[in-house]
Amino acid sequence: MKYIFPEKFWWGSATSGPQSEGTVKGDGKSKNIWDYWFEIAPERFFDGVGPQNTSTFYQNYKKDIQLLKQTGHNSFRTSIQWSRLIPEGIGEVNDKAVVFYNNVIDELIKNNIEIVINLYHFDMPLCMQQKGGWENKKVVEAYAEYAKKCFELFGDRVKYWTTFNEPIVPVEGGYLYDFHYPNVIDGKRGAQVAYHTALASAKAIQCYKEMGQNGQIGIILNLTPSYPRSEQNAEDVKAAHIADLCFNKSFLEPAIKGEYPQDLIEFLKQNNALPQYEQEDIEIIKNNTVDFLGVNYYRPRRIKAKESDVIYKDIFMPDNYFDEYDMPGRKENPYRGWEIYEKGIYDICTILRTEYNNIPFFISENGMGVENEQKYINEEGYIEDDYRIEFIKDHLKWLHKGIEEGANCKGYHLWTFIDCWSWTNAYKNRYGLVALDLETQKRTIKKSGKWFKELSENNGFEY
Ligand code: BG6
Repeated sequence: MKYIFPEKFWWGSATSGPQSEGTVKGDGKSKNIWDYWFEIAPERFFDGVGPQNTSTFYQNYKKDIQLLKQTGHNSFRTSIQWSRLIPEGIGEVNDKAVVFYNNVIDELIKNNIEIVINLYHFDMPLCMQQKGGWENKKVVEAYAEYAKKCFELFGDRVKYWTTFNEPIVPVEGGYLYDFHYPNVIDGKRGAQVAYHTALASAKAIQCYKEMGQNGQIGIILNLTPSYPRSEQNAEDVKAAHIADLCFNKSFLEPAIKGEYPQDLIEFLKQNNALPQYEQEDIEIIKNNTVDFLGVNYYRPRRIKAKESDVIYKDIFMPDNYFDEYDMPGRKENPYRGWEIYEKGIYDICTILRTEYNNIPFFISENGMGVENEQKYINEEGYIEDDYRIEFIKDHLKWLHKGIEEGANCKGYHLWTFIDCWSWTNAYKNRYGLVALDLETQKRTIKKSGKWFKELSENNGFEY
């Protein structure tokens, strides 16, 4: 069967500034929370490899953009690093950063690659974190100023902007489950962080609209559909609903509908975890919804009613109300420990079509991180990653079905085009269409990269 996608479909990939640019001596970038956390706790990073060791895009962007061409990209997403552009968080702009981002943007345009620029990918400047990070409303204001500066500097050429990548992840990592700095465990503070992030996004959108920029602005959310262990068990269903409210709807609803679901508000109130807010900000959220959505999809969330002991009795934690359900027989990516459930991408299509006014969206990340890929190198010297090709095809089949049923999907971006530094996992799992030799920085296109080019040229594939 042939799976052909709509005309002008985006085929490409995503990366982020902090994972691809790193820090280069003399580049004028200030520290972000990753640079700092690595300094104080290098043992938290796989093999002790920190954020300075990225895939050297800062130096090799021209070469990498040629690799984008060679792997069939017609579109590409990266992010601007706030700590690079405005090292003090507010105020003076780093000229070297402006030159760098201008060069990248111009080079992409020269190569006919549509650019999506994201403004924040988990990378709070340290100086802003020292002021309280997203818990402090002044940081929200500073972010809005930073966003405005980006639009002023690059908005003449960049026509697709996103305010945040996966804003729920810094809440989970930094304020619930201890896998991002500042390693706080406190759901009430997490709720404040989430709310201020949603507000920051709306404020950036407000600036964008007020400036009369002629492009589109959206947000990238990692949607993890919540599936109850049993649809017949009311307690499981309720637990899955709470997880959905906390981890999907907490950003989906304000971003698309401009307001929070009443049951999320009630849930937070019952737990004395309602964030502090001002009425005028509620109006800003209401009036500044997104033009489009980026959807990162890696895995579903399987949920059952709470069976395990509550660990943090005196602290509000969403998981006081549900347990993760380790479904027997689930298909899994063993390197990442994530379930692979291809149909989830179709379920997202249906949810967005039926519950979110069929908002335009693109798959902004999907992918498979694999350890020790070197063992798949063939005689010609490149990695034969057939598992990655299968993974992509299996997801695209379901995406295609979603589109056939009317979902407003405009493209598919893989995470990611070249093996890159992945937060605390560093280089453990490789996700790229292109392999990166960490010693020599040599880049070699994998079998999936060659296949991806055909996929893009044919605007689909046969299966
Ligand atoms: C997404 C992020 O959550 O998943 C990326 O946007 C990240 O930044 C990717 O690298 C893969 O996850 P991980 O944790 O394996 O790097």
